[in-house]
Amino acid sequence: MENAKLTRPVILVIFGAGGDLTWRKLIPSLYNLFCDGLLPQPFMVMGLDIKGWKDREFRQHLREGINKFSRNGTGKKGRWKEFSSLLIYRKADFTADSTYKSLSSVLSSLEKAWNDKADRIFYLAVSPAFIETITRHLGKSGIAKDTQRARIVLEKPFGSDLKSAMTLNQLLGRRFKENQIYRIDHYLGKETVQNILAFRFANALFEPVWNRNYIDNVQITVAESVGVEHRGGYYENAGALRDMIQNHLLQVLCLVAMEPPVSFEADEIRNRKVDVLRAIRSIPPDRVNEFAVRGQYGQGWLKGKHIPGYREEPGVSPDSLTETYAAVKLFVDNWRWQDVPFYLRTGKCLPKKFSEVSIQFRPVPHQTFPFAGMMDWRPNRLLIAIQPDEGILLRFEVKEPGQAMCLSPVMMQFYYRDVFGAVLPDAYETLLLDVMRADATLFMRADQTEAAWSVIAPILDVWTTARPANFPNYQAGTWGPEDAETLVARSGYSWVTPLLAQTGKKVKACKVKTEDEP
Ligand code: BG6
Repeated sequence: MENAKLTRPVILVIFGAGGDLTWRKLIPSLYNLFCDGLLPQPFMVMGLDIKGWKDREFRQHLREGINKFSRNGTGKKGRWKEFSSLLIYRKADFTADSTYKSLSSVLSSLEKAWNDKADRIFYLAVSPAFIETITRHLGKSGIAKDTQRARIVLEKPFGSDLKSAMTLNQLLGRRFKENQIYRIDHYLGKETVQNILAFRFANALFEPVWNRNYIDNVQITVAESVGVEHRGGYYENAGALRDMIQNHLLQVLCLVAMEPPVSFEADEIRNRKVDVLRAIRSIPPDRVNEFAVRGQYGQGWLKGKHIPGYREEPGVSPDSLTETYAAVKLFVDNWRWQDVPFYLRTGKCLPKKFSEVSIQFRPVPHQTFPFAGMMDWRPNRLLIAIQPDEGILLRFEVKEPGQAMCLSPVMMQFYYRDVFGAVLPDAYETLLLDVMRADATLFMRADQTEAAWSVIAPILDVWTTARPANFPNYQAGTWGPEDAETLVARSGYSWVTPLLAQTGKKVKACKVKTEDEP
């Protein structure tokens, strides 16, 4: 998040360099940073994995990933040649002492050649099963002992429940100081998610109405049109609640609900966020059904294509009880938000990919206008569109032209694409750069991860013991199970199906079609 140019040498060691994350995200993002002149100098990536690759094969593999996933291709020969010289690879057994010995000597010889000490970043792009052994070896070998220069980066899932997250935090805490640990939630690296802070705290207009006196309810949706794809093995043990709500959606909720921070210091921001998590009202175990809904997709149709049911996906058990959809209703018990419902929902194989926050304001206290002119009246609503059409939209009422006083809702809209033109950087570009700059603002602190697990713990407990009798309970290509509608309908709401999702295109015209929306 800082703007300072990186002047210190950096070595990025990637455990799991042969895996999907490195191929799809890490290296394409590093390449973009390189093209934008943002990588530190000197800089080196050292990839470690079990495959017996030579440097040349490793680079070729990564080049394909870049060409597929980066916004910059490797077409320009000189550019690729220079970048590829920054990538080296070693076959490694993560459980063997010898791996860390030879890693140590490569790191030392690079520093010797540079005649300077480097920041050493250890990125664990590995399955959770390896975290303990790698952490232990990094600690034991002494290669990460410089607490100012060595950092460890961890991907989610960060534990599978409160207890395992606490154990993991203790394990990490024995080998690293908290300021060395970077727990990634890639949603926090998204431009539009960071923009929630800018929108709230760089404008005087919204803060006075950003509370229970004016806001009626908040909805946070992360809808995906894809299924579990090739990740059935992982997903079977995760499910939508652990995979999305515990981290991405709760983090977005924190940004919407937090108090204004005093400064932009990492710990100040993180303190304000953790305050929100701690204020979330705990769900009584015997009332979980009133507050949470789960679903699993069966076969269906999406954009004219037949989609197999979740239970037919590779790596998934034919009688799986894992949820691919979750919706929860939460309350934040503090002065600002008392009794304002926050509805969170996420699901796979829904009709459209979109992530949005909807802030719905209360109705006006008194209806001044003749009833006949109010047929199309709707309360104000602010939509923060996180993806794919990044922007902010505000719905308000105007008088329709004509002799009668007839009200009509319209949209005021801002799209990044229209104003700033350029493609937004990938979340991983921001996050990788922040790790190199030792800026932890966008990363999860130990207490945050634990507080987030505490929020969903009662739901997890009940869902683990009470088996769902009706799975699959929604068809692929629909908006989720019927019970999810009941969750919001009980309080007189319905889920916001955004304008963008309804029309499938960026809307220039401002008139809002409201037939389906409250
Ligand atoms: C990941 C989840 O954290 O986020 C995936 O494990 C999910 O299941 C993905 O598909 C969604 O991320 P994005 O950036 O595509 O919204």
